[in-house]
Amino acid sequence: MAKVYSVVSNKGGILKTTLCVNISAEISKKKRTLVIDTDGQSNVVVSFPTRNLDIKYTLFDCLANGIDIKETIINISEKLDIIPAGKGMNSFMKKDDRSALDLKAAIDSIKANYEYIFIDTAPSLNFAALQALVASDQIVIPYQAEGYGMLSILNTIKAIQEVKNSVNPALKINSIVVTKYDARSKVHKNFLKDIRTVSERLGIRLASTKIPQTFTGANSIFEEQTPTVLSKKWNKLKGIYSNLTREILN
Ligand SMILES: Nc1ncnc2c1ncn2[C@@H]1O[C@H](COP(=O)(O)OP(=O)(O)OP(=O)(O)O)[C@@H](O)[C@H]1O
Ligand SMILES: [Mg+2]
Repeated sequence: MAKVYSVVSNKGGILKTTLCVNISAEISKKKRTLVIDTDGQSNVVVSFPTRNLDIKYTLFDCLANGIDIKETIINISEKLDIIPAGKGMNSFMKKDDRSALDLKAAIDSIKANYEYIFIDTAPSLNFAALQALVASDQIVIPYQAEGYGMLSILNTIKAIQEVKNSVNPALKINSIVVTKYDARSKVHKNFLKDIRTVSERLGIRLASTKIPQTFTGANSIFEEQTPTVLSKKWNKLKGIYSNLTREILN
């Protein structure tokens, strides 16, 4: 039965999707893994070689129109599948109280087919993100060591606590992951100190692996339409993602 992880933060551009697809792709080298995109920007699909695929149904069709989630699955490699979001996810709104459980119900129907499921979310604590929190066992929160980063961490943790205190008491924060980190920057170093203090105070693990700010990191997915960890290049970055994956699964 799959363990379900979501990558969540209401802050944009802090490597939610990059972490989600790289960690999933790394795990899929050995274990059956599914990536579910809940963000209408549809960045998960473009992170894989899907250009020539005819996408029939998306997660939006499943959640809004009752299409079976199995119809939305795209196979990428032997042990890796993805589910595309669909543009409608951007404006997907709550219909009634029960529908917050719809993603969980859909995932439950395919959980037995995977060992790991990773959910990517939009830069918003929107209804789709709420559904992801309800459907998850654990949450990974990326943190960019810059202004406003701390505020979104606190808002994200609050949203997770609310779901934990209501519909999903077993929900856990796996870790906070520092992204786009430049060890030469004083600003980044200071914000790193702050997040260390906050994570210790809240009892949340701060992953010791940090994702460095690099141009190669920014380009690899777009150059090759494949996550860095599946590329033949970028060895240093691949090692970093592999270490991070080990930490998160431990
Ligand atoms: N190591 C890195 N250093 C700097 N930039 C990177 C690195 N890895 C990826 N990027 C770039 O950073 C940008 C944001 O990454 P990504 O899309 O994963 O963030 P996100 O949090 O999912 O964004 P959104 O909130 O819009 O969904 C992308 O253009 C990506 O290519
Ligand atoms: Mg994204």
